[in-house]
Amino acid sequence: MTQFPIAKFRQHSTPFYFYDLELLHSTLDALKDGIGKSPFFVHYALKANTNPQLLAAIVESGFGADCVSGGEIKAAVNAGFESSKIFFAGVGKGDDEIDYALDHHIGCFNVESMPELELIAEMASNKAVVANVALRVNPNIDAHTHHYITTGLNENKFGIALELLDNAVAYCQKQPNLRLIGLHFHIGSQITDLEPYRLLCERINDLQDKYASKGIKFDLINVGGGLGIDYDNPDQNPVPDFKAFFDLFRKELHLSADQQLHFELGRSVVAQCGSLITKVIYVKEGLGKKFVIVDAGMTDLLRPALYQAHHKIENITSTATETDRYDVVGPICESSDCFGVDEILPITRRGDLIALRSAGAYGEIMAMHQYNMRSVPGCLVEE
Ligand code: LLP
Repeated sequence: MTQFPIAKFRQHSTPFYFYDLELLHSTLDALKDGIGKSPFFVHYALKANTNPQLLAAIVESGFGADCVSGGEIKAAVNAGFESSKIFFAGVGKGDDEIDYALDHHIGCFNVESMPELELIAEMASNKAVVANVALRVNPNIDAHTHHYITTGLNENKFGIALELLDNAVAYCQKQPNLRLIGLHFHIGSQITDLEPYRLLCERINDLQDKYASKGIKFDLINVGGGLGIDYDNPDQNPVPDFKAFFDLFRKELHLSADQQLHFELGRSVVAQCGSLITKVIYVKEGLGKKFVIVDAGMTDLLRPALYQAHHKIENITSTATETDRYDVVGPICESSDCFGVDEILPITRRGDLIALRSAGAYGEIMAMHQYNMRSVPGCLVEE
């Protein structure tokens, strides 16, 4: 089990997110090592976590930013990401957000539809600027992940269908205020089997061949994010296998010497360095069940309720050697406010601290502050 600074935790009001910056630094180093000398560029997906201290470490490592709203672009600018390394994705970019992005001369818009392309062209023309765009293609590939976080199928709202891509490419070529620099893909999130990425490479190779035969070449290919992490064994696998991930693209994707390959990794960068720390309020005996009721709920960590996700649960203060079986639940008035069923924990008592592991991605950022009128979870970053 990870050694947590328990004495510090005891002085902090619960629940709170704890971030281990040392682990984040090791993860960023592994990411750099995995890239090696390849022309690969990682844009950290801010949607996973915008904690300023985490962003500072990521900026320092030289990575770019993948943003999906004006708010995220603002956070990226404030954190010090170079504007040329800020990319703007999202299926419903608002006028004011595009306006803000154009004014900040961001590196690229990942465009998802014809009406969006038309709007960006019009707004860029009004400002007499040229916007770099990449077209997000829906490759119709099953990422075999939870259906709420799969994005690359025809039935999903994301991207431009392969059949409609020619139109969008032709439109870009006619517009003086658009510079078509690439193709963008993203097939889903928490992908642990690399096979869908191999299929994606095949799809991209075919597309590139097709366009090359028409004399059209792209400066960059962006394969999105999605690399999964080990939620069951955060201590055995604290750093994802970036090398295997990048090796697959090195092997399967045909790129010419002057082409760049871009990635938008979120979860794999920040998930393992964060834990939600919560205190046991009561241990309640039910009929044939025992409930550990903690002071964090689905309002603080939504993933279990929304995606039936499981975060490893550890009692980090119990000294008991005997164990018992518990359902670990939050205080919210919803049956889905449950972090674990039949969890084997050391004998657990009121006041014990519980860590919900691997919560650095899509944890704090998805916390809700209205429901049941609860307060925002706190935050503690260990340098
Ligand atoms: N690029 C695009 C276009 C995306 O939509 C996403 C995530 C990413 C990159 C980053 O993917 P990552 O490397 O983090 O898997 N809230 C869900 C995950 C939603 C992911 C949305 N898109 C969860 O907690 O599992």
